[in-house]
Amino acid sequence: MKKLLVTGGAGFIGSNFVHHWLTQHPGDRLVVLDALTYAGNMTNLSGIAQRNEFRFVQGDIGNTSLVESLLRDEAIDTLVHFAAESHVDRSIHGPDAFIEANVLGTHSLLKAARKVWLDEKTVPEHRFHHVSTDEVYGSLGPEDPAFSEITPYAPNSPYSASKAASDHLVRAYHHTYGLKVTTSNCSNNYGPYHFPEKLIPLMIVNILEGKALPIYGDGRNVRDWLHVTDHCRGIELILQKGRVGEVYNIGGGSEAENIYLVRTLCAIMDEKFAGDHALKARFRNAPAANGNPSNSLMTYVKDRPGHDRRYAINCHKIETELGYRAQVKIDAGLRSTVDWYLNNESWWRAVMDGSYRQWVAKQYSA
Ligand code: NAD
Ligand code: DAU
Repeated sequence: MKKLLVTGGAGFIGSNFVHHWLTQHPGDRLVVLDALTYAGNMTNLSGIAQRNEFRFVQGDIGNTSLVESLLRDEAIDTLVHFAAESHVDRSIHGPDAFIEANVLGTHSLLKAARKVWLDEKTVPEHRFHHVSTDEVYGSLGPEDPAFSEITPYAPNSPYSASKAASDHLVRAYHHTYGLKVTTSNCSNNYGPYHFPEKLIPLMIVNILEGKALPIYGDGRNVRDWLHVTDHCRGIELILQKGRVGEVYNIGGGSEAENIYLVRTLCAIMDEKFAGDHALKARFRNAPAANGNPSNSLMTYVKDRPGHDRRYAINCHKIETELGYRAQVKIDAGLRSTVDWYLNNESWWRAVMDGSYRQWVAKQYSA
């Protein structure tokens, strides 16, 4: 039986991981530490918050003494670190928060883990798993081989530079102090609970609301789309079988240009609306509610500064060593994601207008 501390467990990937882990490992203890920034929502954990094996702590990973107490008091043996500022566009407009959370925050966790696990020896075995990104490897040309674990680091945005710095700190704590770490670098995730500022959920919500679909530059940038459930399975395999001190890349095997994705989402939506009077009545501003194609909303806008052209992941290591296989194909994954947003309108409206915070305040007020 494991005792996990999951940082950032109220965010997109972290909350999917919490759902996945408690389903697969019902006897395990799981504590979430999350600051509940704009990107963290307790509603992502509804249905879990009341379970005995679960505890939620609102707090900052930069609070080293809080992390030490949690590791000690809960006899945590496994720390899975998702907490971060995660949106590239925000990092371009305000890099400081990214250095604070991603670099200093990760260092704070490492210091706490070193003190409690290595100095105080509170548990016989421990693992610090760090969740990172393929963006640390930089940008690929159309014919370049996909990123592998030995691709040199070349981060291009303040976000990816902050994640690269955190990866190096994790590596250093293993080599210098013997902390038992693993790191995963994954590609673009998508699926339930994805905050509607990232490409896929933003496009879904904007189609439904009849708002412009902003396509940066020529729209030909390529990402390797990974369904969040495949990502969670990859991390689970690393925790179970991964070699300490190693890095594993996790990808979805689904490279696609942004315009392909947006056109596919538009086509799925047009199909859903066709003949569905209830949907047309719910989303009166959607083009498809008024007989127009959703792709009429596509609008080319100024490119993101320093926009990486292509990311692609070589999964050979995790596939051959740990038996990982991405299971969700992109077209099926996009369909199920559209369905999730159609079925969870109250979720995306609440997280976008911030009203979930009132719910949090009621549930967690002292
Ligand atoms: P997210 O922005 O949806 O969630 C981040 C969570 O961390 C939120 O719940 C937020 O409240 C919390 N948080 C932020 N700063 C904190 C702090 N100082 N202390 C405690 N909690 C804090 O992010 P995500 O998309 O779920 O990404 C999770 C991790 O995966 C990040 O480390 C990110 O770099 C990495 N990653 C994400 C993707 C992706 O496609 N989303 C791909 C590769 C790697
Ligand atoms: O590759 C992994 C990374 O994927 C993660 O580390 C990041 O946390 C995550 O945010 C994501 O970064 P991207 O910048 O690739 O994701 P985003 O959804 O912001 O953008 C995807 C692509 O779509 C990118 O080429 C920019 C483009 N885009 C994005 C938005 C929000 C648009 O064309 N229009 C948009 O409005």
